[in-house]
Amino acid sequence: MNNALKALFDVADSAAKQAYAPYSKFSVGAAIRTPSGDIISGCNVENAAYPAGTCAEAGAIAAMVAAGETRITEIAIVGLKSNPCYPCGACRQRIFEFSDAATRVHLRDGANGEAITHSIDALLPHAFGPRDLA
Ligand code: THU
Repeated sequence: MNNALKALFDVADSAAKQAYAPYSKFSVGAAIRTPSGDIISGCNVENAAYPAGTCAEAGAIAAMVAAGETRITEIAIVGLKSNPCYPCGACRQRIFEFSDAATRVHLRDGANGEAITHSIDALLPHAFGPRDLA
């Protein structure tokens, strides 16, 4: 894994350690690199009213948009308990909104610590997206 990707995973790891996941005890962190080079992270935030909980990717995307950025160059997602931690279906859709064909989604292989990398198109084929509403 190159240093830039390792740095992205390090930020995702730090975010996962901040997760608020008292119910599932499944902490997740996500780190987005934007075209400007910024790295923006998020973690899952659960709630006693379970459906009100939010995923790490959703938190990272909200922070990215609040920072004035709307494109994802790459995103790393890690689980503290289980890797690879693939993004849930709703988060694939959230990532797709801000992605293009070159966007990379990185998971960590729990067995050897290496990155597993996919395009968003591979994770969410035939997606419905902004183009459909243009
Ligand atoms: N979770 C995420 O944060 N991202 C995913 O893509 C998968 C699931 C969180 C949601 C919940 O807090 C916990 O993991 C267990 O589902």
